[in-house]
Amino acid sequence: MRTIVITGGTDGMGAALARHSLRAGDRVVVIGRSRAKFDALVASVTGDDRSAASRAEFLAADLSLVADSRRVVEHLLAHCERIDVLVLAASFIRQRRHITAEGREASWTLFFVSKYLLVTGLAALLGAAERPVVVNTAVPGARADALDFDDLELNERFTFARSNAQQRRANELLGILATDDNPELAYVTWGPSRLARSSFAGDVGTGMKVGAAIFGTLLGQRPDAAVRPIIDLIDAPAPAPGRAAYRGAKKVTLVVGDHDDKDAARLSTAVDDQLR
Ligand SMILES: NC(=O)c1ccc[n+]([C@@H]2O[C@H](COP(=O)([O-])OP(=O)(O)OC[C@H]3O[C@@H](n4cnc5c(N)ncnc54)[C@H](OP(=O)(O)O)[C@@H]3O)[C@@H](O)[C@H]2O)c1
Repeated sequence: MRTIVITGGTDGMGAALARHSLRAGDRVVVIGRSRAKFDALVASVTGDDRSAASRAEFLAADLSLVADSRRVVEHLLAHCERIDVLVLAASFIRQRRHITAEGREASWTLFFVSKYLLVTGLAALLGAAERPVVVNTAVPGARADALDFDDLELNERFTFARSNAQQRRANELLGILATDDNPELAYVTWGPSRLARSSFAGDVGTGMKVGAAIFGTLLGQRPDAAVRPIIDLIDAPAPAPGRAAYRGAKKVTLVVGDHDDKDAARLSTAVDDQLR
């Protein structure tokens, strides 16, 4: 039985993947904040298969807090023999800079630091799987120079666009660190081919809220349809080891810069310093 760990597995595309994986007979660890959403998710699949509830586990965590990401890593290390697929899909969109109770910038911490802690902290469990896969739902294609190493939390020049580009680039560099550490790992940076009609969890202005509601309703695809390409990717045969990037089912070229390896190492050092 495969073990699939899904951050943001209580809603939107993460929940769609969790439902699929439970129906497919996998053990699924769902990480999110809402136990009520998890209970509803499990109830929606147990009609088809009574064993699903025994294969589903919920870990309550606010991944914009470093302490919670660390607690999740420790729990998984203590309770899993291996992780076959790690899906990183937790999302809370903030248009403005926000400081957490730990004094860190919330979007950077949720969209990158927590992923860094999970991917690096769970390396041994991913290493124990035959064909380990990380699916990181950070839309690929950010510019190679999108990171400001001297201001990763964007103290100085925060804009939503810069914050978004910065975490997307960092997540591509995380793929270099992860696949250098484990050459058997497939690290897929993935974004949907078009808007997915998800919960769009976040704290955003009226314009973005109305835009997401209108475009999501008119043009958005259902989460279950949006994640079909991920399902095709993680089901046998698993993707080839190494890094890859996809928009929906379409493989896209990874953005390659002259200094990628150095930037990945520099990012790792900078984040480790931040976390000290
Ligand atoms: N929807 C799109 O069109 C689209 C487009 C491009 C990229 N993406 C990416 O695809 C992924 C999934 O997006 P989605 O739209 O399907 O998500 P979504 O419906 O907004 O769901 C967000 C998920 O993240 C969890 N979450 C939010 N804040 C959290 C926190 N602080 N700690 C832990 N979990 C938290 C939520 O769980 P709780 O409610 O239980 O906290 C929920 O399960 C994200 O990475 C997103 O950036 C989506």
